[in-house]
Amino acid sequence: MMTPKERLIFALDVSTRREALALCDELAGEVGMFKVGLELFVSEGPDLVREVARRAPVFLDLKLHDIPATVGRAAAVADRLGVHYLTVHVDEGGRSLAAAVEACSATRILGITVLTSISDADLQAAGLSTNVEQTVLQRAQLAAERGVAGIVCSGQEASRVREAIPKSMEVITPGVRPAGTNADDQARVVTPAMARLAGADRIVVGRPIRDAKDRVSAARALVAELG
Ligand code: C5P
Repeated sequence: MMTPKERLIFALDVSTRREALALCDELAGEVGMFKVGLELFVSEGPDLVREVARRAPVFLDLKLHDIPATVGRAAAVADRLGVHYLTVHVDEGGRSLAAAVEACSATRILGITVLTSISDADLQAAGLSTNVEQTVLQRAQLAAERGVAGIVCSGQEASRVREAIPKSMEVITPGVRPAGTNADDQARVVTPAMARLAGADRIVVGRPIRDAKDRVSAARALVAELG
């Protein structure tokens, strides 16, 4: 069983090494993992990932999407870097996903199904006859068949995804806000307790901690809701 603290992933959504490491040092005792996304990775690269990994496990959120050979080779490099999770888009056929899983010995691959910025109308305009929810479920099942460790999805899809994939796979949910707080630009938000009830194993939180006056207290309040 994971502890409530291990269930909280903090998104290091800043662009400099200095800011990122200050946040890591402040919060290493309060959260289970740090997420490094595109902004920080493009700005500071693998050296910063190694430095963060000395403080807590790293979730490298690069959302890879390319031919299987390229994704596999990039995943192998991430595996050598020592990251805990790496995100890869669920592609048609799932072969890039399978290549990433195959290339990693320790790094766990998470499948990205449909980005939360995509609507039913976007899928129809692209010629698909399904809606977002059906597409999320189909891609989650395909990802499970390709051997991924988990799926990233919003709290509102988490319970359907949880039912559609094996129990051994993890469900990881961003777009989480403590009850009664600002949703920022997230359209489909849930509270930490709702995310857990829906079957999420871990939650990803950025701004509610980063922008809090007292970050440690903000993280502790989230962890308390996960207990
Ligand atoms: O600040 P906030 O808590 O909204 O940050 C959420 C983090 O999760 C950001 O790093 C964002 O890129 C990421 N994310 C998301 N929605 C997804 C996938 C990832 O908000 N579907």
